[in-house]
Amino acid sequence: KGPELYAPDRRNSLGFDLNDVTTLAEIAAERRAPGKWEVGPIIAGSVEGMEPETARNPATGAEIGKVVKASEADVETALSAARAWNAPVSERAAVLRRAADLYEENFGELFALLATEAGKTLADAVGELREAVDFLRYYAGEAERQTAPARGIFTCISPWNFPLAIFSGQIAAALATGNAVLAKPAETTPAIAAWGVHQMHAAGVPSDALQLLPGDGSVVGAALTSDPRVNGVAFTGSTATARRIQRAMAENLEPGTPLIAETGGLNAMIVDSTALPEQAVRDIVASAFQSAGQRCSALRCLYVQEDIAPTIRTMLIGAMDELALGDPWALSTDVGPVITAEARDDIAGYVENAEAEGRLIHRLTTPGAGNFVAPALIAVDGIADLEREVFGPVLHLATFKSRDLGKVIADVNATGYGLTFGLHTRIDDRVQTIADAVHAGNIYANRNQIGAIVGSQPFGGEGLSGTGPKAGGPHYLARFTRAEAPRHNV
Ligand code: NAD
Ligand code: ALA
Repeated sequence: KGPELYAPDRRNSLGFDLNDVTTLAEIAAERRAPGKWEVGPIIAGSVEGMEPETARNPATGAEIGKVVKASEADVETALSAARAWNAPVSERAAVLRRAADLYEENFGELFALLATEAGKTLADAVGELREAVDFLRYYAGEAERQTAPARGIFTCISPWNFPLAIFSGQIAAALATGNAVLAKPAETTPAIAAWGVHQMHAAGVPSDALQLLPGDGSVVGAALTSDPRVNGVAFTGSTATARRIQRAMAENLEPGTPLIAETGGLNAMIVDSTALPEQAVRDIVASAFQSAGQRCSALRCLYVQEDIAPTIRTMLIGAMDELALGDPWALSTDVGPVITAEARDDIAGYVENAEAEGRLIHRLTTPGAGNFVAPALIAVDGIADLEREVFGPVLHLATFKSRDLGKVIADVNATGYGLTFGLHTRIDDRVQTIADAVHAGNIYANRNQIGAIVGSQPFGGEGLSGTGPKAGGPHYLARFTRAEAPRHNV
């Protein structure tokens, strides 16, 4: 399936207004997660586990809980206990819808976990919950239209940047189609994952159909992608890890076992001289700096046509200065911390290197302790100067002449990635011409390029950015079944 072009989304970019936020904050604050927690494997058998490790709040460094990682014995127990979910599809769908209801009812505790374990701002926590329940309800509905049988056991491996939404989406797809799931959350967000599993079990998902195995990717993830009992893998994370998993599967699993991999991106936006500067700058800031730039969809390289570049640059610097960095729980915060001290040091080092080379255009200041990285704007000649996906609030700025538009698009395509692409123009024909020429899964015109909506904006890339089918779209569930293509009852 080729790229899809999305028209302007007229909703508020955060999807709610300030009055809603105030109410949410008050309710959520009353229901903060009680004290320190301990999470570990949730399996259909006794847990052996590893030595507990301390989990820390990325904004403060404070201890928030203990994590017991799964041992090799726990992986074996879970694999032996895993049973495909044979209930009628109507029952599976009803249980997943009930899980969505429980997610919404218990959001206060969830928001506290999203802020303290993942550093999510309140706005991002709302988006996370919305996407998670949308996945549960959407796949429940899609499953009711499928007739193909389940594959068996699915390994679901998820990243920390959408610790509930992507985690729940993969699992919901596999369960809706009747598979058993072995879920491996990211190392840094096991408590949010455990919260989701508890809600799903409480809703009625059998304990042998959904098991949770927190732990290291190189240990637990590797074991769950190289065991011949596994019949399919859903993975979201970096392109490098997807390659490792693909190799492990090729060597150990039955030929033809599906790997659904959603991976990284080097995403560009083009702003031509007909764009409305106020609108473009608002969408640039949201695309590059919301979620502290920790979105696979985030804008990394902005191309501005030279006639309009001084205006956009000035307005962009002004808009960056308005961003509030700090405590993710505070209502006024726009940009929270990055996930770990290692990530902070890596991103900050990258920006310092650009500064030493004289390419730093603008940078905010960090709010003291915690894993904060100040949003930064760096000059480049073009996207070819980006050697890798820097997963944080760092935006690169290039200018182009009208006659070089074709070369800009060729350079974007030459990265080999193809996840999101943004375009600001008021020339209608140009929208379709560029959308046809750019290799990207999700192309957004005259709006920001983050926050795809389940059902209406299926999300996924091509090339180095993923295998497809797109998550939250009508073709996704077929890969979790033994059907070659989706078959429908109606
Ligand atoms: P990562 O690849 O380091 O880790 C992702 C998951 O893979 C984690 O659960 C990790 O433990 C596991 N893992 C690591 N090594 C493994 C191995 N050898 N075998 C099996 N599993 C292993 O990625 P991350 O840092 O958690 O996430 C950030 C990356 O994810 C970025 O590149 C981002 O662009 C990408 N991402 C993509 C999408 C998308 O939809 N395309 C969405 C979110 C994030
Ligand atoms: N689906 C997420 C987004 O669009 C990654 O930002």
